[in-house]
Amino acid sequence: MTRITRFCSSLLVIMGFAVMTAANAQELHIDPQKVTGPDACGECHESSVKAWKESHHAKTFHELPRSDESREIAKKMGIKRIKAESDCLSCHFTSAIKEGKSKPIAGISCESCHGAGEGYIKVHSDFGGKDATKETETPEHRVQRWADAEAAGMIRPSNLYALAENCYQCHMVPNEELVNKGGHAAGSKFELVAWSQGEVRHNVWYTKENDVADINRQRMMFLIGQMLELEYSLRGVSKATAKATYAVSMAKRAARAKKRLAKIDELTGGAAPEIKQALEAASGAKLSLNNEAALVAAAEGVQEAAIAFAANHDGSAFAGIDKALPAPEKYKGKVIQP
Ligand code: HEC
Ligand code: HEC
Ligand code: HEC
Ligand code: HEC
Repeated sequence: MTRITRFCSSLLVIMGFAVMTAANAQELHIDPQKVTGPDACGECHESSVKAWKESHHAKTFHELPRSDESREIAKKMGIKRIKAESDCLSCHFTSAIKEGKSKPIAGISCESCHGAGEGYIKVHSDFGGKDATKETETPEHRVQRWADAEAAGMIRPSNLYALAENCYQCHMVPNEELVNKGGHAAGSKFELVAWSQGEVRHNVWYTKENDVADINRQRMMFLIGQMLELEYSLRGVSKATAKATYAVSMAKRAARAKKRLAKIDELTGGAAPEIKQALEAASGAKLSLNNEAALVAAAEGVQEAAIAFAANHDGSAFAGIDKALPAPEKYKGKVIQP
C-alpha cells in the first residue's frame, strides 16, 4: 500500500463519519494531527525556509485560490472554496489542526517531503541532552538518534526512494475525476534531477553554498526517478475507469517509462539487476482499464526493485548514464542562494 492510502484508511477510522460524507473522499498527503508547520522548522533551519519561500511550492498557498485557471477547475468539480474541503488540499497545501479542525496552513512545505514533524522534531536535533553538541555526541547515540527519528516518521535525504516517492505521489496527478472532469493538467514532464536541482534545491545546512548534488547522487536520483515514474504510472493506470484523457495519458506514460528503463538497462551495461527486475515486474500487467489488481501488483514489484536498488548502490558504477543526465540549464526554476 502507498503511504497515502495507508494514511487514508487510518484517517477514515479516526474521523469516520465526517470524511465519509465528503463528496470526494479526501486524501491528504500527511497527517494534519502531526504537522508542526514550516515556522517550527525555521527556528533552526532558517536558510532552508528562506530558499523554500521563493519556490512555487510555497507560493501556491496564496496564489492558487486567486488564479482564474483554478477557479475554472474548481467550478467544473463543483468545489466552492478551494481552501475548504476540496480535492486541491492533498497536493497544493499542508494542513494542520487549528481549533480542533484540519485547516491548510501552508503550501507544499518541509513536512510534505520530510514527513510530519511532531514525532521527530526534538529527537533528530537532540545530541544527548542539554549540554551535548554534535562534537560530544557518542557514535551510539548518533545511530540511535537517527533510528528514532526515522521510526517517528522522518524522511531523511539518505532515504532517496522515500524522499522522491513524495514527488511522484503529487506530480503524477493520480486523480481521474480531477483530470477528466476538472480539466486539471494530467501530470507534467517531471524528472527528478532537473526538478529537484533548480528552485527546490536547498543544500544549505551541511554546507552554505547550496551546491548541486554530486555526480553519484545525480545518477542515483535519475535512476530512482525513472523507476518511480514507472511505479506511479502503473498505479495511475490502475485507477483508470474511463477511456478519456486521464487513462490515455497515464498509459502512455507507463509505456514510455518502460521503454526508457530498457534503454537505461543497456546504458548501464546491466550493472543494476534491479532495473531488469523492475521491467519484469511491469511486464506482468496489461495497460488497460479496470485492471486494478494486476497493475497494483506490478507497481509493487517495481517498488520492491526500486527500494532494493536504492539500498544496494551508490551511483559510482553508472557513468554510462551521464549523457542522459539533464544539464544545469534544464533545471526547473531559479536556484536560490540564501
Ligand atoms: C531545534 C533545532 C531544529 C529544529 C526545530 C528542526 N531541526 Fe532539522 N536538524 C537540526 C539539526 C541540529 C540537524 C543536524 C543533525 C546532525 O548534524 O546530525 C538537523 C538536520 C535535519 C535534516 C537532515 C537530516 C540528515 O539526514 O542529515 C533534515 C531533513 C531536517 N533537519 C529537517 C527538519 C524539518 C523538516 C524540521 C521541521 C519539522 C526540522 N528539521 C526542525 C535541528 C533542528
Ligand atoms: C494529485 C495532486 C493534485 C491535486 C489533487 C490537485 N493538483 Fe493542481 N497541480 C498538481 C501539480 C503536481 C501541479 C504542477 C504541475 C506541474 O508538474 O508543472 C499542479 C498545477 C496546478 C495548476 C497550474 C499551476 C498554477 O498554480 O497556476 C493549477 C491552476 C492547479 N493545479 C489547480 C488545482 C485545483 C483548483 C485543484 C483542486 C480542484 C488541484 N489543482 C488539485 C497536483 C495536484
Ligand atoms: C519538495 C520536497 C522538499 C521540500 C518542500 C523540502 N525539502 Fe528538504 N530536502 C528535499 C530533498 C530532495 C533533499 C536532498 C537534496 C539533494 O540531495 O540534493 C532535501 C534536503 C534537506 C536537508 C539537508 C540539506 C543539506 O545541506 O544537505 C535539510 C536540512 C532539509 N532538506 C530541510 C528542509 C526544511 C527545513 C524544509 C522546509 C523549509 C524543506 N527541507 C523542504 C526535499 C524537500
Ligand atoms: C504535496 C504534493 C507535492 C509534493 C510532495 C511535491 N510537489 Fe512539486 N509541486 C506540487 C504542486 C501542486 C506544484 C504546483 C504549484 C503551483 O505553482 O501552484 C508543484 C510545483 C513544483 C515545481 C515548480 C514547477 C514549475 O512550474 O515551475 C517544481 C520544480 C517541483 N514541484 C518539484 C518537486 C520535487 C523535486 C519534489 C520532490 C522532491 C516535489 N516537487 C514534491 C506538488 C508537490
